[in-house]
Amino acid sequence: MADLPSVTFTDSDLDAIASAEGHVAVFLPESGKMDVMARRVNRLTKGALARLAESERFQKLKDGQAVALAYPTGMAAEAIHVIRLEKRARGAAAREGGATFGAVLGQLGGLILAPGLKGLDDVLLGVLLKSYRFDRHVTGDDKTSPGGVTVMTSDADAGAGFETVRALAEGVCFARDLVNEPSNVLTTTEFATRLEALSSLGLKVQVLEEPELEKLGMRTLLAVGQGSESPSKVVVMEWNGGGKEKPFALIGKGVVFDTGGISLKPAAGMEDMTMDMGGAGTVAGVMQALAARKAKANVVGLIGLVENMPDGRAQRPGDVVASMKGDTVEVINTDAEGRLVLCDVMWYAQERFEPVAMVDLATLTGAVIIALGHENAGVFSNDDALSKAFLSAAEAEGEGAWRLPLGAGYDKQLKSRVADMKNVGGRPAGSITAAQFLARFVKEETPWIHLDIAGVASLKTATKLAPKGATGWGVLALNRLISNKYEG
Ligand code: BES
Ligand code: MN
Ligand code: ZN
Repeated sequence: MADLPSVTFTDSDLDAIASAEGHVAVFLPESGKMDVMARRVNRLTKGALARLAESERFQKLKDGQAVALAYPTGMAAEAIHVIRLEKRARGAAAREGGATFGAVLGQLGGLILAPGLKGLDDVLLGVLLKSYRFDRHVTGDDKTSPGGVTVMTSDADAGAGFETVRALAEGVCFARDLVNEPSNVLTTTEFATRLEALSSLGLKVQVLEEPELEKLGMRTLLAVGQGSESPSKVVVMEWNGGGKEKPFALIGKGVVFDTGGISLKPAAGMEDMTMDMGGAGTVAGVMQALAARKAKANVVGLIGLVENMPDGRAQRPGDVVASMKGDTVEVINTDAEGRLVLCDVMWYAQERFEPVAMVDLATLTGAVIIALGHENAGVFSNDDALSKAFLSAAEAEGEGAWRLPLGAGYDKQLKSRVADMKNVGGRPAGSITAAQFLARFVKEETPWIHLDIAGVASLKTATKLAPKGATGWGVLALNRLISNKYEG
């Protein structure tokens, strides 16, 4: 769905550089040593690159940062972007280098001069991720379609890894599109329709409607949605790229809008609750990426789709509701709705699929933003090895993640007078007691991670690889975790 720039590869043709239009990227290492294409740009611009390489400004650049030379003499280009990058650079620096270019591309598009760059795949992932725009609701001149990118290399199979790069970028941008979409557009029904469309990639997609959820006994999930005109749904997406082994399960909170329900949120900032389906967005993005790159693993993604509205039929504070597991919950605060959705979907996932491991993602608590800000998602786990594997995958992808504790002491805060548990544990350690609530719905034998992404799913400022708004946090880390653990 996301309108990402097209990328094509061409063989080295030095004579074509002078007439290239739009934006041109060249790479220079710290030493200032130029490759053949940079030498040609230098000659055309009568030594501008060499002077830049000698300058203090260039010396002060960090890897991946660039200086733009606008309307250069001797070339047809709009601008030359001189990006500082070592030839062997991979990972974060190479992605940033690409992102610097992706940020300026606009509808003009451009040419990347990259003979023998080792981290070309990372550069291109950076280009695609940072060129992302969410402008489908903008009309007139502000609406643009991205220009194409041509990559000139001397390496005949430079494009070999690009299919994977595009699969990952599309997964991240699918998640971003879902999170950025306003809630009058992305209703539970529209969300399910967009997921059903993934079946064209070979995913098996099933939508469970309210009568089936009722039969399954998913009362806590249904109670959250009962005040909304939009029907509650659970979507199951299966990718079977592996052998006969049980799948890895991803569970996402898909609250398409969170007013708080009868425990209504204050007006200021309530519009941000369009992103309360961020967990579901990330799960959808991972599933799309796995299918697009034909991952050799079995993974199932389950998403609980509801809208939390105040209404004559809405659930009340004080209501007691039975979960699918059978445990009863006293709903003290209808704004602590995410856990009520997740607990039923998590239980269902374990009953139906007996997963080898389970990761749930949710914009679950404001408290995790107080604890970790917008730099790190909260990580909670009952399994040290799985948790370590996830943290290292997240680090490799530059997605901030920090483990927080679980413990019986915190669990006591959930004690209810009238039911098996309350849905809130009071102010102290709000993110931990939310995780403790979920932990009650994890079977002894299931290795599990809960990711509280309230602080990282959507931001007011741009990041290195994303413009303002939805980040797609977690798609790359989970893709890497799956690839490391199940495709090795
Ligand atoms: N969706 C919110 C959490 C949230 C807050 C997400 C800010 C993104 C940004 C969640 O449903 C919620 O309302 N949580 C309450 C829980 C409380 C009532 C125990 C909260 O954090 O205040
Ligand atoms: Mn809420
Ligand atoms: Zn919520």
